[in-house]
Amino acid sequence: MEFSLQQDALNFNSASSLILPLSAIEGSEPALSASLAAADQLLNGAIRQAIDSGDLTGKFKSSQLFLHAGAGPDRILVMGSGDPTKLNGRKFGQLTQAAWSQLKTNPGTSVLNQLTTADTTDLDTSSKVRLSIEALVQACYRFDQFKSDAKPQPTLPSMTFVADESSQTQLEQSTATAHGMDLCRDLGNLPGNVCTPSYLAEQGHKLAASSSKVTTQVLEEAEMENLGMHSLLSVGKGSAEPSKLIIVNYQGGTEGEAPHVLVGKGITFDSGGISIKPGAAMDEMKYDMCGAASVIGAMQAIIDMDLKANVVAIVASAENMPSSTASKPGDIYTTMSGKTVEVLNTDAEGRLVLCDALTYAERFNPSTVVDVATLTGACIIALGHHTSAVLSNDDAFAGSLMNAGKQAFDAVWQLPMGEEYQEQLESNFADLGNIGGRSAGTITAACFLSRFTESYTWAHLDIAGTAWTSGAKKGATGRCVPLLVQHLVNQA
Ligand code: BES
Ligand code: MN
Ligand code: ZN
Repeated sequence: MEFSLQQDALNFNSASSLILPLSAIEGSEPALSASLAAADQLLNGAIRQAIDSGDLTGKFKSSQLFLHAGAGPDRILVMGSGDPTKLNGRKFGQLTQAAWSQLKTNPGTSVLNQLTTADTTDLDTSSKVRLSIEALVQACYRFDQFKSDAKPQPTLPSMTFVADESSQTQLEQSTATAHGMDLCRDLGNLPGNVCTPSYLAEQGHKLAASSSKVTTQVLEEAEMENLGMHSLLSVGKGSAEPSKLIIVNYQGGTEGEAPHVLVGKGITFDSGGISIKPGAAMDEMKYDMCGAASVIGAMQAIIDMDLKANVVAIVASAENMPSSTASKPGDIYTTMSGKTVEVLNTDAEGRLVLCDALTYAERFNPSTVVDVATLTGACIIALGHHTSAVLSNDDAFAGSLMNAGKQAFDAVWQLPMGEEYQEQLESNFADLGNIGGRSAGTITAACFLSRFTESYTWAHLDIAGTAWTSGAKKGATGRCVPLLVQHLVNQA
């Protein structure tokens, strides 16, 4: 879908479809905006009549579609936007999707969407543009490449929002973000037998092919061996798929400027390894590369936006499988940093690949480093499926990420990471163990990573609860691409 802006709400005659909001304030008759009054005139009073008869109330997500013959729009959808004091970001996204589901069977070639003029208490116009674009692109997302009866994607109309030029930058940023989310969703939804570490490496090369500002380097197992990345390599030992370290370098800023680094967990299937997982819902462990998918999606977005910053993405990718060559509980590996790790549970593999990628990040003298991972089931217990976790060695940096999450409507909340938790990682035989016991699993996982991030400003995002949805609507969400992009925009 192509998006654009238009300032004048009353100039709607060239649109094929028109979406108009109607708010409802308890105890008072819905009031007609200037656009509603003009549309009412075009429809010979049908809108006023529908309000007077009680058919049209302005109640949140209720709607009526008016067909119109002759000059002007063919369809006018009046969409109830409800109580302005309750129309928050989440509801605004739902409202947009409800409007689209009314129109999508026959929208014509162009839609003038005036929901951006709906009354709210704390959403500015740019936020409404952002929420509209992300909600619409999500509503149009399909993943049917493995269905033999897949229908071709219908041609989508262009959509114009009523907003002034000051929202143009936001429109471009959101369009890029939404497409980055689509890429993230695709990579996540692809099955593990297709989306392997080698497949993710190809995605890295594709980004380089699409822009002269990007160079991609893929480290093979032998090169990682030479660098001493034995922790990362231990995870793929049981798999026939070779592990990869994928480095995508975007030079959009001034030469020599310290880059912002993103590190993604790319476990393309997590069986647990020898510490094998129970069978229920194990298919969902194809989503264990959603940290990598978020990082790749964010890179594509900043390329599209032509962001003026230097950004390096590092994807640590492996398949975690049980076999006679797999690592075993009790095995000890030396990490690239020189620290030794006792693998007490082969299912705590994310931190084992990330620690070596985080040590590798040092060579970029980074301004900041953010790693993204579906790291712990405990994160779902702590925050559920709505909010990602952030843990950091710098509270101000964690705060700036929470702020970026708020701006991007991609919520993230800080968990503490005091030294008292570090003790849970003690090992009898190595410098540290890879698990910290049952309590505070998300925190002890971050504590493990913190042992490898001492030389720079770092934050860890645990997206175990937010990266995909289970059940009948199983699928990747595209989170946390919006958060990552907003973080990079704010830093640039
Ligand atoms: N990828 C999983 C975490 C996960 C589980 C994310 C379920 C989303 C849904 C991770 O590799 C893992 O297995 N973590 C273990 C750690 C434990 C062994 C310390 C976990 O959370 O149980
Ligand atoms: Mn695991
Ligand atoms: Zn995992």
